Amino acid sequence: MTTIASRTKTRTIPLPLLPFCFIICLILHKTVADSQVGYGYTITTVNNDPTKTSLTSNLKLIKPSFVFGPDIPFLNLVASFETKDRLRVRITDSNNQRWEIPQKVIPRESSFSSLSYPFQQNPQNSKNFLLTHPNSDLIFTLHNTTPFGFTVSRKSSKDILFNTLPEDPLNPETFLVFKEQYLQLSSSLPIKRASLYGFGEHTKNSFKLQPNTSFTLWNKDVGSSNVDVNLYGSHPFYLDVRSGSSDGRVKSGTTHGVLLLNSNGMDVVYSGDRVTYKVIGGVFDLYFFAGSSPELVLEQYTELIGRPAPMPYWSFGFHQCRWGYKNVSDVQGVVTNYAKAGIPLEVMWTDIDYMDAYKDFTLDPVNFPLDKMRNFVDTLHQNGQKYVLILDPGISVNETYATYIRGLKADIYIKRNGVNYLGEVWPGKVYYPDFLNPHSQEFWSGEIKLFMDILPFDGLWLDMNELSNFITSPDIPHSNLDNPPYKINSSGIQRPINEKTVPATSLHYGNITEYDSHNLYGLLESKATNKALVDITGKRPFILSRSTFVSSGKYTAHWTGDNAATWNDLAYSIPSILNFGIFGVPMVGADICGFSGNTTEELCRRWIQLGAFYPFARDHSDKSSTRQELYLWESVASSARKVLGLRYCLLPYFYTLMYESNTKGTPIARPLFFSFPEDVTTYEINSQFLLGKGVLVSPVLQSGAVTVNAYFPSGNWFDLFNLSNSVNAESGKHVTLDAPFDHINVHVGEGNILALQGEAMTTEAARKTAFELVVVISSNGNSYGQVYLDDGEGLDIEGEKDQWTLVRFYGALNNDSVSVTSNVTNGKFALDKKWIIEKVTFLGIPKHERLNRIDMAESELSIVNGMSLIKKTVVMTKFDSSSKFVIVEVSNLSQLIGEEFKLETEIK
Ligand SMILES: *[C@@H]1O[C@H](CO)[C@@H](O)[C@H](O)[C@H]1NC(C)=O
Ligand SMILES: *[C@@H]1O[C@H](CO)[C@@H](O)[C@H](O)[C@H]1NC(C)=O
Ligand SMILES: *[C@@H]1O[C@H](CO)[C@@H](O)[C@H](O)[C@H]1NC(C)=O
Ligand SMILES: *[C@@H]1O[C@H](CO)[C@@H](O)[C@H](O)[C@H]1NC(C)=O
Ligand SMILES: *[C@@H]1O[C@H](CO)[C@@H](O)[C@H](O)[C@H]1NC(C)=O
Ligand SMILES: *[C@@H]1O[C@H](CO)[C@@H](O)[C@H](O)[C@H]1NC(C)=O
Ligand SMILES: *[C@@H]1O[C@H](CO)[C@@H](O)[C@H](O)[C@H]1NC(C)=O
Ligand SMILES: *[C@@H]1O[C@H](CO)[C@@H](O)[C@H](O)[C@H]1NC(C)=O
Repeated sequence: MTTIASRTKTRTIPLPLLPFCFIICLILHKTVADSQVGYGYTITTVNNDPTKTSLTSNLKLIKPSFVFGPDIPFLNLVASFETKDRLRVRITDSNNQRWEIPQKVIPRESSFSSLSYPFQQNPQNSKNFLLTHPNSDLIFTLHNTTPFGFTVSRKSSKDILFNTLPEDPLNPETFLVFKEQYLQLSSSLPIKRASLYGFGEHTKNSFKLQPNTSFTLWNKDVGSSNVDVNLYGSHPFYLDVRSGSSDGRVKSGTTHGVLLLNSNGMDVVYSGDRVTYKVIGGVFDLYFFAGSSPELVLEQYTELIGRPAPMPYWSFGFHQCRWGYKNVSDVQGVVTNYAKAGIPLEVMWTDIDYMDAYKDFTLDPVNFPLDKMRNFVDTLHQNGQKYVLILDPGISVNETYATYIRGLKADIYIKRNGVNYLGEVWPGKVYYPDFLNPHSQEFWSGEIKLFMDILPFDGLWLDMNELSNFITSPDIPHSNLDNPPYKINSSGIQRPINEKTVPATSLHYGNITEYDSHNLYGLLESKATNKALVDITGKRPFILSRSTFVSSGKYTAHWTGDNAATWNDLAYSIPSILNFGIFGVPMVGADICGFSGNTTEELCRRWIQLGAFYPFARDHSDKSSTRQELYLWESVASSARKVLGLRYCLLPYFYTLMYESNTKGTPIARPLFFSFPEDVTTYEINSQFLLGKGVLVSPVLQSGAVTVNAYFPSGNWFDLFNLSNSVNAESGKHVTLDAPFDHINVHVGEGNILALQGEAMTTEAARKTAFELVVVISSNGNSYGQVYLDDGEGLDIEGEKDQWTLVRFYGALNNDSVSVTSNVTNGKFALDKKWIIEKVTFLGIPKHERLNRIDMAESELSIVNGMSLIKKTVVMTKFDSSSKFVIVEVSNLSQLIGEEFKLETEIK
């Protein structure tokens, strides 16, 4: 076959230059050929299993290249349907086993297992080989071209989702390359129709991926205030939201997802018309999720990697932390000041200050002595509050330190050159537990239990687990692991992979190298910590981890790390939080008011206004910055009371969204296109987000601004603070809203029913208040909402039948009445709790001729299985501020939420 290089030659030399460059071109040709990273592979055999759920092919190298090391000559490709919505394509060395993420680290099952005998086909006879499944919309096509390529397309629309055919012989980046330490695979994309989201962890000013950007995935302790560089976690996953095709076959919002399940360091280059993976190890293990809605992709993705962990009810309260609290009385003072200011504080945290010489599982005997700490934590608990403390993985090397000694005896530390690897973190010299070692679980659980027995903390915060190291150890000379041939773009300047972490030649249990497993450390620590807390407490754990990987959401919450107290960082927090939602880690927040640098009153005020609607809401600051507790400025305190007041009313909603995450994988904070996939304007939005389906948060992100230009997708939207102001968007539109200094715009969209409770100083107190339903009638007359109720801390969501209740609400507008009907699953739990609905507010009833006057009306409340009765409810009717809608409030209901009912109110 012709080589690519000779074609390159004919294409690149303009005719008039030919004589001129006779010699030079000969040299150039050689250089080009020699510097090309690879030439691709061809198909030798294809086996198709008779059950038609998988296809296997052998591939042969076309021509060797020596850039980044020699090519692997023979590859094996398997394409298989693992479920009807999940297609897996795995490419690896035919002859040698390579590193792959072990099943015990990320358990993944296929429900279509088939062990049938393959038959063989001669590839010369056919151009393409298809793998289809009657129930799947995905088609895998293997192209018998030179070089070979594969495509994944949709049966329904013929849209090509992923296309590795090297269409451009001039661009060696488009070739499949497979070497010991360099793997390359590239897919072309329809530049005008594909909007991509994902690939992290990076701080970006745009949620939608911008063309000509690259994403390095190599976990690193780098402050998240740094944009466009690899941060603490790695998530080689993206969503591709397609805009409609001109022939009308593809509907806008049709979405699929792609995961490259690989833990090695990599660069992902996105050029707009192409996504290229450049990976320094492992195999190509690609998963395609059919969608076809964004929500369904998340459901399919988390079905593979694990659904997000259930979170305790209290974790949705407000959290306060700071690095640099001096002593117990300092911390106690903060708790007292929150109470005095009337700002709800649910959880008090301590950073490494509480430790004795920064040793895990110890207390500073002078400033945080055990007796005072116990009193402090007991008092918090008596007041319905919680306490969370930090742990770092590095174990101080100190002969007087019992934890260290037990670790030595259990022999669970990471090793290099046959001895424990010596790193350096806060306590000075440390060894790092190797969480791939099965004995580490017992060690870690044991330490946590011993400490919890002396100090009953409520949750754990895992920091520094990238792994962070204050020193960079010398490379082992000539090691391809410490110094691989291809330099990933770490820190945006190709920093060595060993910089300030555990060196790549270090060994984990079973001789797994740090090179291969580096990106898994935070996941493994979160997993071990989760198991420890489940075993010790028998309750749902709360864990917050800085480092994450694919499937971390199954074990932990995440915060966006060390941001800075700047307006830019405030804005970046929205793309970051939305990203973690699509990474399957929906419990996420950014440090409110900013971590590093000094915040200002205005910034802190705007930040709590936004942060009150993060799934995880914590104020945290750096030791070297000024304090930023919310009560320190009167304007911040009063705004905090207002916005946290609304957050606490929304707690049942947040909690139900957590339930939806845990059962379906849908994020808590979502991009607008999750609810409005057909509205292409939503694809570009970076400064607003939805909570669940229908609560739209539109914050102020600029200093001095007192208005906000917000996008409203089609529908009627109602201000959630006073239910009166509305925005009416017949089709999507931008609206400039007032946003005075103490206000954030939060709207609920038509068609939604929210079950709210009252404001309170703790989540426990809030849970004792009555419910109010806000029923937002949609243009088609209907609306829907649900609320999930349990004790907020049991291990399982939807556990024993008497331990939880799910209530669905259906709203309807008829000719002369509005109604809401409930449908209760497992009512006993809610009935035992005696929770009642005290008030129902109907919004979005169009005003028309008959509704011109404001009248008192009667409401009828019928209890399912009971008598229909006219209750002595109080009905108030008024117009909303636009005078377009009637608001009907029915109060004095005292209706048990666990009992099915229908409430119907005449409107005339
Ligand atoms: C990306 O870079 C390529 C090559 O430099 C250039 O042709 C293209 O216009 C760039 N695309 C965008 C959207 O900037
Ligand atoms: C706690 O720290 C504060 C601030 O440094 C100091 O003023 C106070 O005396 C300390 N209290 C105790 C009990 O050590
Ligand atoms: C070991 O820990 C003890 C107690 O915190 C401390 O006094 C001592 O300095 C430490 N030794 C080393 C070598 O760090
Ligand atoms: C490395 O990353 C930086 C920051 O994102 C970027 O500017 C640079 O172009 C990247 N370099 C390469 C070789 O990709
Ligand atoms: C790890 O490698 C060492 C040295 O190469 C070897 O002696 C040992 O058996 C290996 N252990 C495992 C579990 O593979
Ligand atoms: C923050 O404020 C403190 C106290 O006013 C000051 O010492 C420090 O320099 C400030 N830091 C920055 C980064 O401006
Ligand atoms: C409702 O809140 C909005 C936004 O703060 C305000 O402009 C409007 O006047 C309020 N309406 C009523 C009736 O209170
Ligand atoms: C409530 O919902 C369940 C599940 O969707 C359904 O089976 C049941 O018939 C509904 N009950 C009523 C009274 O509508």
